[in-house]
Amino acid sequence: MSGQESYGSGTGQLLHRDPAMPAQACWWYEGASSDVPQVWCYTDDLSYQVGEEVALHVHTTASSFNLVVYRDGLQREVVHRVEDLRGEAHETPEDCSETGCGWPVSHRFSVGSEWRSGGYVVVVTAETGGRSVRHEHWFAVRPLVPQRDALILMAATSTWIAYNSWGGSNAYEGIWGTENDRLAPVLSLQRPWGRGMAWLPEGAPRLCAPGKLPVGWVPRYEAIEWALANGFPKYYATNGWAMYERHFVRWAEACGYTVNVITQHDLHFRPEVIESAPLVTVVGHDEYWSWEMRDHLENYLSQGGRMARFAGNMGWQVRLEENGRAQRCHKHFAGTEDPVMESAEEQHLLTSWWDDRRIGRPIAETFGVTGTQGMYTRVGGFNPRHSGGFTVYQPRHWAFDGCDAYYGDQFGAQSGVFGFEVDGLDYEIRNGIPTATGRDGVDPASVEIIALSPAALIEEDHGNEGTQLFVGAFDCEFMATAVHGEATPEAVDELSRGCGVISEHSVGKGRSFSAASCEWVVGLAGGDPAVERLTRNVLDRYLGGEDDS
Ligand SMILES: [Fe+2]
Repeated sequence: MSGQESYGSGTGQLLHRDPAMPAQACWWYEGASSDVPQVWCYTDDLSYQVGEEVALHVHTTASSFNLVVYRDGLQREVVHRVEDLRGEAHETPEDCSETGCGWPVSHRFSVGSEWRSGGYVVVVTAETGGRSVRHEHWFAVRPLVPQRDALILMAATSTWIAYNSWGGSNAYEGIWGTENDRLAPVLSLQRPWGRGMAWLPEGAPRLCAPGKLPVGWVPRYEAIEWALANGFPKYYATNGWAMYERHFVRWAEACGYTVNVITQHDLHFRPEVIESAPLVTVVGHDEYWSWEMRDHLENYLSQGGRMARFAGNMGWQVRLEENGRAQRCHKHFAGTEDPVMESAEEQHLLTSWWDDRRIGRPIAETFGVTGTQGMYTRVGGFNPRHSGGFTVYQPRHWAFDGCDAYYGDQFGAQSGVFGFEVDGLDYEIRNGIPTATGRDGVDPASVEIIALSPAALIEEDHGNEGTQLFVGAFDCEFMATAVHGEATPEAVDELSRGCGVISEHSVGKGRSFSAASCEWVVGLAGGDPAVERLTRNVLDRYLGGEDDS
């Protein structure tokens, strides 16, 4: 980790940062050390069912540590507590983000018969070097069999893996490669979740910062600033249980819904987990999907399954390797570096953007929306003065029942549900109603758009003094190359403007509803009555098996 400087944070953990770069542009992340007081842990799998054993791997500079495991729902239900377990510091490979930490098992415990399906947080605490240190990890307890009256929440674990920078690298930045300066194409699950992914302190900023912006405003990124100031990894606000899924679970359980939790890995490796489920729900930020995940979801939907997706940013194909213990995504470098490019039979598995023409499987075929026609909003220089809501076009659609929605309303603006990444569709306005054109791979007859609002794929540079953009045109130029074969000015211009939609999509006998925005959960957590009502309308209709066809 040459050229890096280590910073102990206020809680005694460790960040690595390149001090030569301004905070906004530089890279910082967590990692193990024997020199700084700390405790870290990970489990041997992402999900378990009743009766299975959880192996916990712990690295700490303390001679002992304490452990608490609780189900994180409307109530915090402690299911396992052990004190004074033996603590040890372990050698950790420099490339642990890619290869795993390799720490030995420190403690084993079984999932008891009384443990309800849900998201479970593991808290390890220790006293070391005169300081109190802690770390939080997460795993799911999946249902033994889907319950007919329960909704399944599928945690967006492939996105969590992609953003987890623990050890130095994630799918965005990193210390991989000969110059130790690149994102890592392969990420191991055998490492801790970064701080903030399983648990967050109250008030940790979200990516969309509300506020009145003056003329001449310079884009800023408050969540990134907060992360550096408080010892959290740079991308803590983009993903994770604590930022997204837990808010939905807490809200849904308060409403009286029974929530079972699975992971995207479960959909990939054991699709039977949703086979007889009435409803699969996804919330937050689900940017990464494997070919098998799409196959299994399409199969479920085509046989009459229902999906409620309150999430955004349909994007990259991943491949799960090592029985799911590693995830591969070459991203912008896939065309030249992904080994499947050498095989005509395997090129469809290219770990590029799903709408990359070399893959040949537009993402909208499965989900009825695509990140290619959507993307950023209300962050940095991406429409920063957006209302934060979806414009209502079909107020008489059943989803708006009881919402008192009017044509042209800014739905959800009160709480700011529109952001920070959204999915859209190519559309035309006919007689004041947006309709899908099908140019992005969706069958126009299969989808109904009921609300939408603009999003952008180029971060605008207004030249205001002090401007330093985070994304600029980088993503748009890549997307133009992937989708159209070349980043011509016309192709870049076409993709620079998108939208986020609320829509319903038919797949065979099944239906999926999309409120295609990462930040939808803020309307639930914040008690936005219209957002709550629409969400209940979707869940109740789909759980009840109602059909308007
Ligand atoms: Fe994303």
